Amino acid sequence: MSHSNAPSLRFIVEPGGCLAGHIRVPGDKSISHRSIMLGSIADGVTEVQGFLEGEDSLSTLKAFCEMGVSIEGPVDGKVTIHGVGLHGLKAPDAPLNLGNSGTSMRLMSGLLAGQNFDVEMVGDESLSGRPMSRVINPLALMGAIVAGNKDGTPPLKVSGGQALKGIDYTLPMASAQVKSCLLLAGLYAEGHTCITEPAPTRDHTERMLCGFGYAVERKGNQVCIEGGGKLTACSIDVPSDISSAAFFLVGASIAKDSDLLLKHVGMNSTRIGVINILRLMGANIELLNEREIGGEPVADIRVRSCQLKGVRIPEDQVPLAIDEFPAIFIAAACATGETVLTGAEELRVKESDRIQAMADGLAILGIDARPTADGIVIQGGELGGGVVNSCGDHRIAMSFAMAALCSKENIVIEHCSNVATSFPGFVELAQQAGLAIIAEHVKG
Ligand code: S3P
Repeated sequence: MSHSNAPSLRFIVEPGGCLAGHIRVPGDKSISHRSIMLGSIADGVTEVQGFLEGEDSLSTLKAFCEMGVSIEGPVDGKVTIHGVGLHGLKAPDAPLNLGNSGTSMRLMSGLLAGQNFDVEMVGDESLSGRPMSRVINPLALMGAIVAGNKDGTPPLKVSGGQALKGIDYTLPMASAQVKSCLLLAGLYAEGHTCITEPAPTRDHTERMLCGFGYAVERKGNQVCIEGGGKLTACSIDVPSDISSAAFFLVGASIAKDSDLLLKHVGMNSTRIGVINILRLMGANIELLNEREIGGEPVADIRVRSCQLKGVRIPEDQVPLAIDEFPAIFIAAACATGETVLTGAEELRVKESDRIQAMADGLAILGIDARPTADGIVIQGGELGGGVVNSCGDHRIAMSFAMAALCSKENIVIEHCSNVATSFPGFVELAQQAGLAIIAEHVKG
């Protein structure tokens, strides 16, 4: 979010052009966070490569350094974590500042609930408005004491030294962050912690726990672990983030004469909703060189331009594409016909209210986009130009940048500094691929 006098970043993107060549987008944010958390509480030295050097994953890294973990890097995506074991973290001297990162705060609330010291977690203006009751309440059932504001927003104060017990819990919403939070608390709990999810969500925590030698039982929509084990250090190769690739998948689809190869992208089946949805819309996406690296499927993705068509987005794809909807809405705006999204109320509590922020921006560009309580209805059309507000949300900013590839006039996007939370070097990489984008610092 913008502050009155703080300098702010603005993108100015000229219309047209195409995306071509080979690019590699930065490392996966979800996997990067988890590599630091699990590496820190493992026994031994964990080596990570491909780590995302974005502000969010760096917030997690810094927090664990402040709890006494010795971490080298990142240098060119390489991080070395000297694990302190499950019970080796130390009380930090000051509250942990997690910036814009909801993943850090939600996952760490579970992990920290099992420590024998008190700790406070704070965040920026956006994070300070995000709902945390979804982790506070089930953690309380485990015997943890985590307190936020009356309305369940941060700061969060975790009281250490509680004896946690395992629970059998059904998530009220499809959330990998809540699932992961409870699994991490479950490491410290007596007995079994079993989580049932209403729909499959990203399973990086489960996969990575296995990679660290920790037994995880998975049956249908349920995942269980038993407390009291130990994690053994390992090597982690972080693939490129499909959520960052998504902007280019949409950009190359909507820009005439595009032919772009995205290299080494994570293709975990719980993350590929964006590919499934774009293919339903008629996108020309080819997967090459499919392989498995460090327990995660990876591929190179070739995407070429095509005329997209509007679709009704299947609700089972929503959790599998939860971070990619801002980009998908741009695809819908450039498609022929109507696109309807339902079952996506979670989009209203992301880094911004993504349904409203996208509807407002699309309206400025001349697109008929009607928000609903749990989704949006977008009529494909001709995009004009204008000044849109990203609301300080990295994914809104990058999505509108790509929209210029099929707009008639310049698109100016305000409050783009937070792009650095997930995609450092976005402007340079987008320029290299063919987007006519510049970034400009302005007074807030
Ligand atoms: C994430 C889970 C998702 C996603 C977020 C990262 C994770 O959040 O939106 O960007 O790494 O577990 P929810 O669990 O709130 O859906």
